[in-house]
Amino acid sequence: MAVNIRWHPLENAEAVAQTALQKILGEAQKAIIQRGMFKLVLAGGTTPKRIYQLLSEQQQEWSKWYLFIGDERCLDADDAQRNSLLIRQSWLDKIDFPMENFYPIRAEHGPDQAASEYAEIIAPLLPFDLTLLGLGEDGHTASLFPGHLHNENELVHGIYHSPKPPPERVSLSNKALAQSEQVYILVTGSNKKNAVQQWRQDAEKQGMKSPVARIRGINGVDVFIDQDASGD
Ligand code: 6PG
Repeated sequence: MAVNIRWHPLENAEAVAQTALQKILGEAQKAIIQRGMFKLVLAGGTTPKRIYQLLSEQQQEWSKWYLFIGDERCLDADDAQRNSLLIRQSWLDKIDFPMENFYPIRAEHGPDQAASEYAEIIAPLLPFDLTLLGLGEDGHTASLFPGHLHNENELVHGIYHSPKPPPERVSLSNKALAQSEQVYILVTGSNKKNAVQQWRQDAEKQGMKSPVARIRGINGVDVFIDQDASGD
């Protein structure tokens, strides 16, 4: 199925963060008006950190925000490399956020147990309103890596032998990510240029060489990308 990708080229990483922030706030307002809640899947890695910092400066009805994570590293919950820790330190610990509305992946339980536990949590809550994702230099997104085969019926995968440390992770699947009204993919930095070129080729030829090319959203995919990453 062809994916509807909308590319939003921006000057630099700060412009990506500021633009994505305003779009996120708009989606939150729409979801809260329509359904009384905003179900947001957060990206791991470092690209979204500035967005989380900007969100910590916003005045929002946080009690109507429900936060999930697209993938997590199988490390102790307080390990500095945990995606959940970066989210807390750059955003949630700075505001009066109802932490019962934050659903981290219990990746410290190990890939398979954590994956089945998280699948039980998210299944009754689908669809998500918005999913944020990053892009790895090899074209991975969340913890969906090139050459890794998964049971596509799963909502959440246990990940082994990840080429990006740590080797064991937990990741939402293509199936779960596709059950998101909107999907924003955030890409900054010249080190992502090759992955973007491969992605564009996949998009033009309906290819699926890179995992990011398999990502679908109910209403398509929006890519917020700076000049360094797009090479334009
Ligand atoms: C992770 C992330 C991963 C990340 C990309 C980009 O746990 O590592 O979920 O998918 O989004 O690798 O990472 P950066 O944003 O740090 O470049």
